[in-house]
Amino acid sequence: MIETKQHDDVLEIVMTNPPVNALGAGVRTGLSEAIAKAQANPAVKAIVIRGGGKMFSGGADITEFGKPPVGPMLPEVVDAIEASDKPVVAAIHGMALGGGLEVALGAHYRIAAPKAKLGLPEVLLGILPGAGGTQRLPRLIGAEAALGMIVSGSPIPATKAAQAGLIDRLAESDETLGDEAIAFARTLDAPRRTGDRTVSADAGVFEKFAADNARKIKGLDAPKACIEAVKAATELPLDQGQQKERALFMQLVTGEQSKALRHVFFAERTAAKIDGLPRDIQLRPIRQVGVIGAGTMGGGISMNFLSAGIPVTIVEMAQEALDRGTGVMRKNYEATAAKGRLTPEQVEKAMSLLTPTLDFGALAHCDLIIEAVYENMDVKKEIFAKLDGIAKPGAMLASNTSYLSIDEIATATKRPQDVLGLHFFSPANVMKLVEVVRGAKTAPDALATGMALAQKIGKVPVVSGVCYGFIGNRMLIPRQTNANALLLEGATPEQVDRVHTAFGMPMGPFQMADLAGVDIGWHRDPERIESLQDALCAQGRWGQKKQAGFYDYDEKRKPTPSPVVAQIIDDFRAKAGITPRSISDDEIMVRTLYTMVNEGADILAEGIAQRASDIDVVWNYGYGWPRHKGGPMFWADQIGLDTVVDGLKRYETALGGDFTLSPLLAKRAAEGKPLDR
Ligand code: 3HC
Repeated sequence: MIETKQHDDVLEIVMTNPPVNALGAGVRTGLSEAIAKAQANPAVKAIVIRGGGKMFSGGADITEFGKPPVGPMLPEVVDAIEASDKPVVAAIHGMALGGGLEVALGAHYRIAAPKAKLGLPEVLLGILPGAGGTQRLPRLIGAEAALGMIVSGSPIPATKAAQAGLIDRLAESDETLGDEAIAFARTLDAPRRTGDRTVSADAGVFEKFAADNARKIKGLDAPKACIEAVKAATELPLDQGQQKERALFMQLVTGEQSKALRHVFFAERTAAKIDGLPRDIQLRPIRQVGVIGAGTMGGGISMNFLSAGIPVTIVEMAQEALDRGTGVMRKNYEATAAKGRLTPEQVEKAMSLLTPTLDFGALAHCDLIIEAVYENMDVKKEIFAKLDGIAKPGAMLASNTSYLSIDEIATATKRPQDVLGLHFFSPANVMKLVEVVRGAKTAPDALATGMALAQKIGKVPVVSGVCYGFIGNRMLIPRQTNANALLLEGATPEQVDRVHTAFGMPMGPFQMADLAGVDIGWHRDPERIESLQDALCAQGRWGQKKQAGFYDYDEKRKPTPSPVVAQIIDDFRAKAGITPRSISDDEIMVRTLYTMVNEGADILAEGIAQRASDIDVVWNYGYGWPRHKGGPMFWADQIGLDTVVDGLKRYETALGGDFTLSPLLAKRAAEGKPLDR
């Protein structure tokens, strides 16, 4: 895991632990042995540490967390590097992340390839840099800059690192980095230890930073600990600061939040794997994409491909709709450019890859065609039948349907093996999740291509089988049904939503309904009032777009509880003969969150989701489930499946005759086994 090469008087130590040179026990042992040997070897004047393969190092081996520690520990290894009597240079290419950057911080000098990125992303795993990073980084670049990097977890490019003083030199290129590092090391006479430096900062800096970031770090343990550790760097000598860092690290790494965040890290990567399919399956080349429908979804979907440099042909029925759709896409790009996240040239480049047309025949050259029209089976079947006659052999035919059966859609073609679902979430150019729906006849290579392509355009894909609503929206159904019932039984929209936001969701069911549009799926007959939703719609309360839904909204879309809605609910209750009762937060929790877990267990039992962790990924990336609570399935395992089952039984009467306890959930609870295994 460690290779050493002698270049005259310079010793090169190469970390080789593919794919990311994680600093597992083997690498740590090898590094510390190589450093110790170099001290004793008179032929070595200076040392260069670099990474083999595609990067310097992706940091500590996350799979070791939660297991019994195996020495030497990373902080000791980094200290030994810093203590070297011979100058040590870190030569960084690709990425130096977390413990990887901490190794480089232990070195006396740093040189990086121009495309390298450096960062301390530990906070995203619910921990803090635990190998001296919180102590050495501020000593090099100052407390404020260090806070920014450590608390955001975002890596910075080498050029910026050079300006900040994090690296000493920029190499000409990746290719010349090795030689330049050796030449640089040869010029050095003595070690230069970051730990010998001091850094000072006003106490106010930390308070201001915490206040400025209050919203982002609310409810999270790690960012607060990061701030505390960086503050210690300004107050204590290195060794005492490191003790403080270690204590905070140990607290975090054994805590619930870090466990959940690590689960999400691996869940996301596992979701990309399709059970039963070889990883090296031959993919179909996708060079040209067609999109049918230039509405909100079609436009958003197209933007993903354009941004990734893949040309898109977009088809509409009428010129006006086509113009409106392309106009919205341009406006979205320009808004991003106005925020400085795209250059005007990038906007033009993306838009130049778009071919808007009214001619369906123009899709003939596309390798993948995505239908994104409204939810109507007959319309979709008609489109797929038409596509069957136009698309070239082997082209993939996808539907963006949120609920409908891919299998039934596929029957409209003579090539069901090429048909699959690509369910994007709104706004499709922003939301990361794509449910890649595998029909009964979808060919393995078509499925694998859908997954790989989604990743290529920066999405997080999850395989779903065919069922009404697939994984995510199917789980929303019991949540919404119960949320609506709770209003009639005595709860208010505010109360139900508060339980969800206090849990950590970005919004509750009624805030979400207002955002999406209360009128979605409404029959449009104001006289026919069969549900609360009908009653709201009949009064024009269609949600945020009308500044009135379950809440009243001001111009800035700030919601306030609505007396009109309270009245509508009262009237509705009276008509239905319901006497309102007081509803506890516990009941809301069970009926709107535990029921989702119950549905998730059915989804798992039916094989709609490949694994429990895939369901968690869906909820993290599609619905804003709080990452530090892992996902609904992980969360259920944490609180205990028996707790979930007991809760559901507690409210069995209120849940009504339509509710059935998931046999899988009941079984695993009885066995004391988790859903995720
Ligand atoms: N430990 C263990 N495994 C890791 C790992 C790590 N630090 N980083 C990546 N891997 C694994 C992944 O799980 C994946 O495994 P798989 O192929 O079996 O699914 C494989 O390496 C490749 O990873 P990616 O698919 O993510 O590869 P990319 O090239 O897309 O991304 C990366 C590379 C940017 C390094 C990304 O993997 C990443 O962000 N890794 C985590 C970085 C991180 O958080 N480091 C801090 C670790 S904590 C730490 O250092 C504590 C210290 O302060 C004491």
